[in-house]
Amino acid sequence: MMERLHRWVWRDAGRRARKLLDFADIEEDGGRDLVRAAELTPDPILRRLYTVHAADEERHAALFRTRGTALMRSLPALSTSLRLNWVSPGERGLDDLRVHGESDASLLAFLHLSEKAAAGHFAAYVDALRDDPPTSAVFKEVLHDETFHMNYTLAQLNRVAPGRRGLLLWRARLGRLWKAYLRIMSGVAGVIGAIVLTLQYFVLLPPFALLAKRAERREPPGWNPVPAERERAMESQY
Ligand SMILES: [Fe+2]
Ligand SMILES: [Fe+2]
Repeated sequence: MMERLHRWVWRDAGRRARKLLDFADIEEDGGRDLVRAAELTPDPILRRLYTVHAADEERHAALFRTRGTALMRSLPALSTSLRLNWVSPGERGLDDLRVHGESDASLLAFLHLSEKAAAGHFAAYVDALRDDPPTSAVFKEVLHDETFHMNYTLAQLNRVAPGRRGLLLWRARLGRLWKAYLRIMSGVAGVIGAIVLTLQYFVLLPPFALLAKRAERREPPGWNPVPAERERAMESQY
C-alpha cells in the first residue's frame, strides 16, 4: 500500500521537481550542521567521519538540485501541486539537527535513526520512480551513501558508548517521536486556523457588508453641495 502511495505522490512531474529542490535544501542544511559537529567534537575519528559525511550531504544536495532544476525546466507551465513532504519526506532528521549541547554519543544515536529512516524512504523512492530512470538513479546513488551513514553512526556509537547504546537510541527515538508529534499538531493547528477564519469570513463579515450596502443606498449619487455646517470643517482641525 505504501508503495502505491509513493508512486502516486511522485507521479506528478511538478511535485517531483519541487520535492527534489526541497530535499536539496535539507541535505545542504544537514551538511552545514555536520561541519559544525566536526568542529566541535574532541574525537579525531569522529571529526574525520563527520567531515566525510558533510561532504556526502553536500553532494546529495547538488544531485537533487540538478535533477529538480532539470525537471522544473521541462515543465510546460508552473505547477501548483502540493509537495506532500509529510507523506514522502527527504532526509528527515537532518532538517532539525541540533549539534550544540549534544554529546557525541547522543548525536550519533540521533544521526543513526535519521539516516536509517532516510535509507528506508529512499529505497522506496527508487522503486516508486521506476518510470523516471534519471530521478530513480539519483536516489539509488544517494541511498548508497545513506546506508554508509547509517552503519558508521551505529559502529561509532558502539565505540564511544558501548554500554549505553540501547538507552541512547531509545532517547533519540523518543525525541524524534516528540518532534513528529509537534509537526502533526502544528499541521492540525493550521487546519483549525483555516476553518475558524473561513467561518469568520462567512458568518461575521456579511452583516457588516449589508450595513455598508444600506449606508451606500442612503448616499445621494454624484456631486452634491456640502451642507453649510460641514463647511466649517476646513477652518479648524475639529
Ligand atoms: Fe543525504
Ligand atoms: Fe545522510
